[in-house]
Amino acid sequence: MIDSAKSMPIIGLGAIRHKRYGVQEQDYDFAGDLAISAAPTVVRRCYPASLADSRMSPVIPFNLPPESGREIDLIRDAIARHQISGGGYYTKACESWLETALQAPRALLTHSCTGALEMAALLAELAPGDEVIMPSFTFVSTANAVALRRAVPVFVDIRPDTLNIDERLIESAIGPRTRAILVVHYAGVCAEMDVVCEIAERYGLMVIEDAAHALMSEYRGRLAGTLGEFACFSFHETKNVVSGEGGALIVNRRNLVERAEIIRDKGTNRARFMQGLVDKYSWVSLGSSYVPSEIVAAFLRAQLDAIERFTSDRLQTWNYYHAAFADIEKRGHARRPHVPDHTRHNGHLYYLVLPTPEIRNQLIETLRQENVHAIFHYVPLHSSEGGRRYGRTSGMLPVTDQVSACLVRLPLWYGMGEKRARVADRVLGQLAALSP
Ligand SMILES: Cc1ncc(COP(=O)(O)O)c(C=O)c1O
Repeated sequence: MIDSAKSMPIIGLGAIRHKRYGVQEQDYDFAGDLAISAAPTVVRRCYPASLADSRMSPVIPFNLPPESGREIDLIRDAIARHQISGGGYYTKACESWLETALQAPRALLTHSCTGALEMAALLAELAPGDEVIMPSFTFVSTANAVALRRAVPVFVDIRPDTLNIDERLIESAIGPRTRAILVVHYAGVCAEMDVVCEIAERYGLMVIEDAAHALMSEYRGRLAGTLGEFACFSFHETKNVVSGEGGALIVNRRNLVERAEIIRDKGTNRARFMQGLVDKYSWVSLGSSYVPSEIVAAFLRAQLDAIERFTSDRLQTWNYYHAAFADIEKRGHARRPHVPDHTRHNGHLYYLVLPTPEIRNQLIETLRQENVHAIFHYVPLHSSEGGRRYGRTSGMLPVTDQVSACLVRLPLWYGMGEKRARVADRVLGQLAALSP
């Protein structure tokens, strides 16, 4: 079971300099005439009142995107630089933030985690009929990226404790066409990477991390995103740091960096041209347009600065829920998330697994009537229309089916404050009424 000591340390709100990640807060070189306070603790609100007002609403939404307070300033600066297409100052600033924080050879900003997953599938050179082992309990993009290459997602069950791929089932899913294992670090808790990587090495397979939830989570002291050949992060508005839509591909093998840049740049060697290494650029291999605009990158850069503040606040809510629901777990009315001792999570999401689908659905409905928006999560891929058409299943997947039908995610966002207590009260009240 988790306790607060196993999750990330809680850092005072003023301490938003990235000691832990080795990156500095104020490393901008402003082109325009926009002055931004150099004091790390000064956060200027520059949003319309309506957004601030939504935090006062009686409805507790499932998600509210976090604001660092500096996004608009950085977007203005991006505009003042007169290059708002991708690959400019802020794209590079975000990429170097990620490379420093993760100590990764190369981070490439993308328009989404979906895009990063598609890039990973291209980089892995998946061919028609090749197979990639993955959990069925994941977002459609994990499998879709593979199916787009006409390769086959092979679905295996998840562990009942962490809801990550059950590493004990991977070996029996391996066949002559298996090329890669694609793990998901669900809820920011890392999959059992030692076992996954050992199997991959023994069978000559690639490891790809779908780290959409897991920015700054750790496995045995190593950061998520550095554990496989490639990793994919999401900056969708529900994540810990956001840019509306957004993502990043981490390339952990230096010899694949150039190919990754080509894939992101429509299959061209434009990156080498920009570095002055070739005198013109042209189409060299398959690729697409995966780079976000500078507007998006500027927004993200402001968010990355606030990652410790956002994360510590999310962890406070996570820890609050976890303590509040300890008793209902003891009484068998719900299962709480499990965080193994050798992992550290980032407070990305809080869920409960209820005893039956009926109780789960009833809980979501009654919470909604009380203005608390709780939601379910993934619909299993193996039994979906696309999953049956493009994938195959290895063995039975009873845990996936049960968890998917019984899991509820509770509101968890930066700045929830006392609203977390209201959510916990309502959940406890409803479960007392619903549980046998
Ligand atoms: C595990 C997982 N992978 C990939 C994605 C896709 O992320 P994005 O919306 O950035 O494309 C999601 C979305 O939340 C996800 O949960």
